[in-house]
Amino acid sequence: MKDKSINVLVLGLGLIGGSFAAALKAKRVCNEVAGFDRHRDSVDIAVETGLIDSPCYDLQEGVSRADVIMLAVPMLAMPAVLRQLLAVPLEDKVITDVGSCKGSLVESARQLFGEVPASLVPGHPIAGSEKSGVTAAQVDLFKGHKVILTPLPHTNAHAIGLVKSLWQQCGAHVDTMAVAHHDEVLALTSHLPHFLAFSLVDTLAGNRENQEIFRYAAGGFRDFTRIAGSDPTMWHDIALGNRDAVLQALDRFTEGLEGLRNAIINKDSQRMLGIFERASTARRHFTSLLERRAYMTTLSDSKTMNEVQQTFVAQPGGKVSGELRVPGDKSVSHRSIMLGALAEGETVVDGFLEGEDAMATLQAFRDMGVDIEGPHDGRVTIHGVGMHGLQQPPGPLYLGNAGTAMRLMSGLMAAQSFDVTLTGDTSLSGRPMNRVVKPLLEMGAAIETSEGGRPPLVIKGGQKLSGIHYDLPVASAQVQSCLLLAGLYAEGETSTVAPGIVRDHTNRMLSGFGYPVAVDGDRVSVCGGGKLTATKIDVPADISSAAFFMVAASIAEGSDLLLPHVGINPTRTGVLDILRLMGADISLSNEKLVGGEPVADIRVRYAPLKGIEIPEHLVPLAIDEFPVLFVAAACAGGETILRGAEELRVKESDRIQAMADGLQALGIDAEALPDGMIVKGGKPFAAGTVESHGDHRIAMAFAVASLQAQGVIRIKDCANVATSFPNFVRLASHVGLKLSVEGQDE
Ligand code: S3P
Repeated sequence: MKDKSINVLVLGLGLIGGSFAAALKAKRVCNEVAGFDRHRDSVDIAVETGLIDSPCYDLQEGVSRADVIMLAVPMLAMPAVLRQLLAVPLEDKVITDVGSCKGSLVESARQLFGEVPASLVPGHPIAGSEKSGVTAAQVDLFKGHKVILTPLPHTNAHAIGLVKSLWQQCGAHVDTMAVAHHDEVLALTSHLPHFLAFSLVDTLAGNRENQEIFRYAAGGFRDFTRIAGSDPTMWHDIALGNRDAVLQALDRFTEGLEGLRNAIINKDSQRMLGIFERASTARRHFTSLLERRAYMTTLSDSKTMNEVQQTFVAQPGGKVSGELRVPGDKSVSHRSIMLGALAEGETVVDGFLEGEDAMATLQAFRDMGVDIEGPHDGRVTIHGVGMHGLQQPPGPLYLGNAGTAMRLMSGLMAAQSFDVTLTGDTSLSGRPMNRVVKPLLEMGAAIETSEGGRPPLVIKGGQKLSGIHYDLPVASAQVQSCLLLAGLYAEGETSTVAPGIVRDHTNRMLSGFGYPVAVDGDRVSVCGGGKLTATKIDVPADISSAAFFMVAASIAEGSDLLLPHVGINPTRTGVLDILRLMGADISLSNEKLVGGEPVADIRVRYAPLKGIEIPEHLVPLAIDEFPVLFVAAACAGGETILRGAEELRVKESDRIQAMADGLQALGIDAEALPDGMIVKGGKPFAAGTVESHGDHRIAMAFAVASLQAQGVIRIKDCANVATSFPNFVRLASHVGLKLSVEGQDE
């Protein structure tokens, strides 16, 4: 808002109206914030407590002075208030409201005015508390909260802009939605929980032993029923104002409750655990989703930004020693859920990666009706539903940061009978998906992408797929896996050839589930129409996570570290080859095959490194390890050159640019090339601050650099380390890094 000439009148000085007035007044962005309430006392209190600039006791007079009229009265009082406005000339005045249901407001306005005025901007702040009345008003009630505006197609753009800017001044984030959509969503997310809380407390209060019940009711009861203390009139009005959507929500809930009741009657443990597990993970998933959203929308709020983005602080020096079992392999974990879900029978997975990426896949399959228990200490039990047993998820499948999940699942989803939308976080939403969409379309899939082939992917079900032969333009295991997974459902044979070695976990695991896969040189093919049989999977420790510590031990004098049970699938061992070429001291022992994947204990001791020209054929074999290999290169004597790795530019971040920038910020001579980098190594890292760009591997790579630094390295935006390496800070500190998270005691 550019000028201070606006007069705002708030009609209804309850919790919401009072807080809105208070926030605007505190910001001093309006000429005047006036308040009216049918209870004169409330107006007086609002003046005394400084919520408003001036009282308004005569509605018509107040309205005539106002530029913006905010209706903050209970829903059913809305028509009466609108009727009073009819008597006043309203030209040039903007009207808005805060009601919880938008359909009934729009309908009342239509009936009274003949047509909904173009200057009426329906709104709904998603904020509040169980308290009510003017005395409960808080100046920062809306700070960091969402406000949904539901303008109609003919609503005046200036009016929308003005209302939006007023809410932004209150510290809120403004979204826009269609009226009906708003009412359906809010019926489920706000109205239903309130009615459940009211009903539960009422049921218990009517119980003869209610004294006893309330005396012994502990945290669960308190958490669940806090909102039963909310304003009865307001909720009465909402129940009637959004009656249809509320009834639908109550019916859905009743059906769910009936399902749980039957499971208990029938002692159906799988069903019960399925419900509880799904709910408990969905709750956690929802929390992180919310945090991520807060992170994206509160960049001006440095406290929130730091809390959610996480800054790593790495003190210089030290060495690594002892033994460290790094978390489970991400690629294998994703695939174990996908194939386990589609298998017949119960698949037990051990060593599952409890990182956010693999958890996103797990949650997606739960959303498609698969009962999955765990993870409990890395064990996941999947009750497979068979090749055709997935159900349509209730909404888009949110895959967070996980590119592998999106690319592999697009192949599976393209072959289902139902429609599905795949979405992701900001980083994933910028990553190229045409590499999988193009060949899937050739197979007969129906997929729409956003501009430039980016997510979300809107996949139409019920398509008949036909096998194709596809020569991959990039050496990508994700593309190959996607096509093989689609090929399981396609008519005839689906075959692929990659221009280089790509990780082969999909082929191996398909074979483990009893599905025939033909591998002939670099040609991999499957025929559609088979089935998967449940199996046992032992997920090796992730060589991509182990790589950080291989480099750590190699660059810090006196280091001697054992990394047990690491996957050494020959399509993943580029990092071992490259480090050995640089002079690293790495030895393998205890080599064995577990569930079709080779593993070994890896011992790494400090050895001076030398710069090399990295052989291009090793690039796909070490594709995820380059961030930390650049750190090794900076510590190596001489020059290291990487070429042929343009793929790094479209990973979770542009890893060539992100690493070159970070290395330069720490005083290293690093030159980004279109397809690689030249690093002149051999001197320590200077103290400094680097950006990880929300990329887990960039963050961890710079944490490792601290071992050879002269001062503190601060690494920003590290929350996504949890996507592949939960507990990284604790485990890294355990073996000798001096790492902490800003603002947290480690
Ligand atoms: C992965 C394959 C690689 C890798 C990613 C995981 C997989 O991607 O970078 O982290 O599990 O198939 P591309 O195959 O696209 O290179």
